[in-house]
Amino acid sequence: MNASLLTGLGLAAKASAADTEGNPANEYRSTFSMDQNQVSLYTHARVEPTKVFHITDTHLSLDDERGVPYREFSARMAAAYTGNSHFQSGETCSAEESFEWTLDRARKGKANFLALTGDIFSFPSEAAVGWVLKQLDATGIPFAYVAGNHDWHYEGMKGSSRELRDTWTTERLAPMYQGNSPLYATYEYNGIRFVCIDNSTYEILPEQLEFFTAQMNSALPMLLLLHIPLYMPGRSMGFGCGHPEWGEQSDRNYEIERREKWPAGGHTQVTLDFYRAVFEAPNLLAVLAGHTHRQSLDIKNGIPQLVSRENASGFYLEVNIQTTG
Ligand SMILES: [Fe+2]
Repeated sequence: MNASLLTGLGLAAKASAADTEGNPANEYRSTFSMDQNQVSLYTHARVEPTKVFHITDTHLSLDDERGVPYREFSARMAAAYTGNSHFQSGETCSAEESFEWTLDRARKGKANFLALTGDIFSFPSEAAVGWVLKQLDATGIPFAYVAGNHDWHYEGMKGSSRELRDTWTTERLAPMYQGNSPLYATYEYNGIRFVCIDNSTYEILPEQLEFFTAQMNSALPMLLLLHIPLYMPGRSMGFGCGHPEWGEQSDRNYEIERREKWPAGGHTQVTLDFYRAVFEAPNLLAVLAGHTHRQSLDIKNGIPQLVSRENASGFYLEVNIQTTG
């Protein structure tokens, strides 16, 4: 099917498409439908009906006295997303109010699983991480979390993106991973595998590619959770993972974000190999991502990439997965 035609219809309109048009038959993927912030994903695999809430880019900046020594690195982002316009009511809401409202929706709607795809935090504040864990725990709903580029970033702090990610995912964000590696993890629920790969530096490491390849052969239907969407022709640099023009020349924000510039040579071969592997994965039902703060849908090789807008405004995507009848 023509993905640009589908996305051109606008997401307010109901879009429904079989994924087999022009694509080889697939034993996992069946159809999907989308209606505003609700998606139905059908699979030929045997799964229990499962309701997933996809939550991304809440941009919490809660802080307390423990964050005082870090203020020179957190001040700009602490001032962002404090007054947001709610995606449904239009009322002004803080990032905390949005997150609480969304979790309340998840609880009342009997969501089975929460997929958190990064930039939940605007910087790795101890107060914010503690608050989120308490909120999540209170729902009693299992969750998976993968970091975004802001979760571990203190602007202007010395070090490469990779070093800073290693430091702050270990020092502050560790409980969010529930004993798993921050770089890659899987969570199984109702016969569905949720695969987290951290691409918040825009790049993929060899061990992440190896891990993902193993999941491709797991014989379980899977959803891939990423922060940065995978490249799609015609999309902006926000779809920066695997983008052929990603690199030093296209980096517009390194000064404002006070971080290492993207590399002159562009992506590594491993990142490009990961990109190819994702869209060849026979058991991949969908990719869930954030980062752009805009809702969008693209389809490549029959695999939908669903990008959700920012939860700072209360947005969430409800993804219902079930076996085709
Ligand atoms: Fe981001």
